[in-house]
Amino acid sequence: MADGTDLNFDLVVIGSGPGGYTGAIRASQLGLKTAVIEKDKTFGGTCLNVGCIPSKALLESSEHFLQAQHEFSDHGIKVSKIELDLGTMLGRKDKIVKSLTDGITYLFKKNKITSFEGVGSLLSANEIEVKSASGETKVLKAKYIMLATGSIPIELPFAKFDGKKIVSSTEALKFEKVPKRLVVIGGGVIGLEMGSVWLRLGSQVTVIEATSKICGAMDAQATKQLQKLLTKQGMTFLLDTKVQAIETSKNEVTVKYEDVDKKTGELVGDVCLVAVGRKAFSNGLGLEKAGIEKDERGRIKVNAHLQTNVPNIYAIGDVIAGAMLAHKAEEEGVSVAETIAGGHGHVNYETVPGVVYTWPELASVGKTEEELKAAGVNYKSGSFPFSANGRAKALGSTDGMVKVLADAKSDRILGVHILGPRASDMIAEAVVAMEFGGSSEDLARSFHAHPTLSEVMREAALAVDKRARQM
Ligand code: NAI
Repeated sequence: MADGTDLNFDLVVIGSGPGGYTGAIRASQLGLKTAVIEKDKTFGGTCLNVGCIPSKALLESSEHFLQAQHEFSDHGIKVSKIELDLGTMLGRKDKIVKSLTDGITYLFKKNKITSFEGVGSLLSANEIEVKSASGETKVLKAKYIMLATGSIPIELPFAKFDGKKIVSSTEALKFEKVPKRLVVIGGGVIGLEMGSVWLRLGSQVTVIEATSKICGAMDAQATKQLQKLLTKQGMTFLLDTKVQAIETSKNEVTVKYEDVDKKTGELVGDVCLVAVGRKAFSNGLGLEKAGIEKDERGRIKVNAHLQTNVPNIYAIGDVIAGAMLAHKAEEEGVSVAETIAGGHGHVNYETVPGVVYTWPELASVGKTEEELKAAGVNYKSGSFPFSANGRAKALGSTDGMVKVLADAKSDRILGVHILGPRASDMIAEAVVAMEFGGSSEDLARSFHAHPTLSEVMREAALAVDKRARQM
């Protein structure tokens, strides 16, 4: 961290998550003298430290554990005794996190970005105070400021997080032992991903979801299929059910709920994971001193250029409206850097992919059928199952399908929804196709190496015009 004397910068970024650090690197590449302020001890924000990365590490490990128990024998591999060493599993996750957060330190050095450890707070439109944990303060001056302070988990008003019995995703990444009974509140991304981890490691997992479906607004056909598959894996779902109270004792947690028919019930667990969404985090940021406006949900208001009502101050990522996704924040950070450097920043919100890293994975880009119907768009749909794909059979992972939605007249791709193995990687093809304004014909006529999972994408594209070949 910096102790130099020159505290004047072209750009000061507050927050070093994917949006902040990517934006800072781009700004530096474009010749702006850039600083980053981070309140935590390591860079990387929620994503690297307590979000995307550690959860993916645990999802991978827990999947191996499950495969060793149930799938190795299909391959003719005999394993006599399979045991869980949770300490090693969590240690591996921590090492991955450390290597990536260290990587940002390296990237900042390489890109000549000055970093400051402490809480950044606006004093005016051009001055930011950095207060370190020991209480030491510095004042930085900046021509431009990028606010990238992210989000925090939402607490239930009647059941505050206690870090032990009522926990957020942060604690669910480091349970000291596998909880026998895990109650998950919220059938969204975190609930299903962390629920999957502990289910695979032996927990009895019940997901309580307030609405009638899991995964929010994602494609209904795919989410219904995913729910069936997760149920087959042992996850229990209570949909249309609202939690009314949570009581804790030394060893247990009792979750009281009421369903849509006003039927009440209670569930007893060892731990309760509350995953009911996240909210913008701008506490202590001094927004009022710079006169920055927030919306009714506490998010910093920005215009189409991600500029706040104070022209030299921009905001990006989870602290503004929109999908709370690392890659959305990254694109916004880059866009702001390019705008400030005199270019033309741009984010195409029509092609932000969303992924749920369950098994199989669910990945999606563009419009869902429900959205197209609601908007009265005339569309064609083509889908194809993984069960008919040679590579999926070789992998032993044939659940799921790809669905391509295209405009009925122009054939332009409007949305792609994938439930299947490595859907997270496969969705990239659809994103690029949509970015180029591609048609289902374009996907269908492009080479797809054989045998690959990506052939399912081509077959779904062919199916849009009813000419899939492999069924
Ligand atoms: P979420 O918005 O995905 O899901 C929250 C769920 O909780 C919703 O289905 C909602 O209907 C339900 N809910 C809300 N209040 C409830 C209540 N009182 N009782 C029962 N259910 C209730 O939020 P989540 O899973 O907490 O994730 C937070 C954010 O983090 C999301 O915006 C997500 O996009 C992001 N994230 C993304 C990941 C990814 O891209 N793979 C992984 C983890 C998080």
